[in-house]
Amino acid sequence: MKKFLLPLVMLSVVFVGCDEENPIEVVDGVNIEIHHQGETCSSCHGSNGSEVRLYAAGSIFKSLSAGNNEAAQIALGHTLRLVLNSTTKYLTVGNGDGNAHSKSAVLSEGFTAEVLDASGDVVNSASHSANQLDCNSCHTSTGSSGAPGRVVNFRNE
Ligand code: HEC
Ligand code: HEC
Repeated sequence: MKKFLLPLVMLSVVFVGCDEENPIEVVDGVNIEIHHQGETCSSCHGSNGSEVRLYAAGSIFKSLSAGNNEAAQIALGHTLRLVLNSTTKYLTVGNGDGNAHSKSAVLSEGFTAEVLDASGDVVNSASHSANQLDCNSCHTSTGSSGAPGRVVNFRNE
């Protein structure tokens, strides 16, 4: 009996460790990783953060008032695209579990933020200036700095 106990204890420690960092939740039958959806990404991934530097990052929800990490409100399969003003260059922001990010260097010009559905169709968009890359800092559940709430997967007009 004792022989089995130690490996069992070690295993559960490993699993609990993973779960605490990025737990998996099931939404509409899909496994999604919970990783600070809706929180201000720059607090950990900004120039003074301790984690991998992300130059643009945010989360996409199904409702303007979704709470941080509210799994049922995460817009699955959606992603962000930042279209620069002066060029036709698109900066596609990586996809995953309602979070989107770019590791490409800082934009020095304004851009149009576009929300894309799983087919790549634009479902929402708005013009922004060069320093508005930390989406969730304004797109909180109540909206800060004039933002209407979350970045959402529908046009809020
Ligand atoms: C409280 C701190 C914290 C916040 C806030 C946070 N992250 Fe992270 N992030 C981490 C840590 C720690 C890791 C490395 C371990 C892991 O994957 O969980 C990480 C890893 C990542 C990675 C993988 C980076 C790589 O290539 O190695 C991505 C992408 C990411 N986070 C995106 C985001 C996005 C998008 C947001 C905002 C919605 C966000 N994170 C908010 C702490 C944070
Ligand atoms: C400094 C604050 C701020 C930051 C940062 C910011 N936004 Fe916004 N956003 C706003 C404001 C204010 C509006 C409403 C005005 C408008 O629609 O032009 C808005 C509107 C939007 C809309 C349309 C909202 C709706 O309800 O239809 C989308 C989509 C959007 N932002 C996406 C993004 C994305 C993606 C990012 C990050 C790359 C981002 N925003 C960063 C302030 C911000």
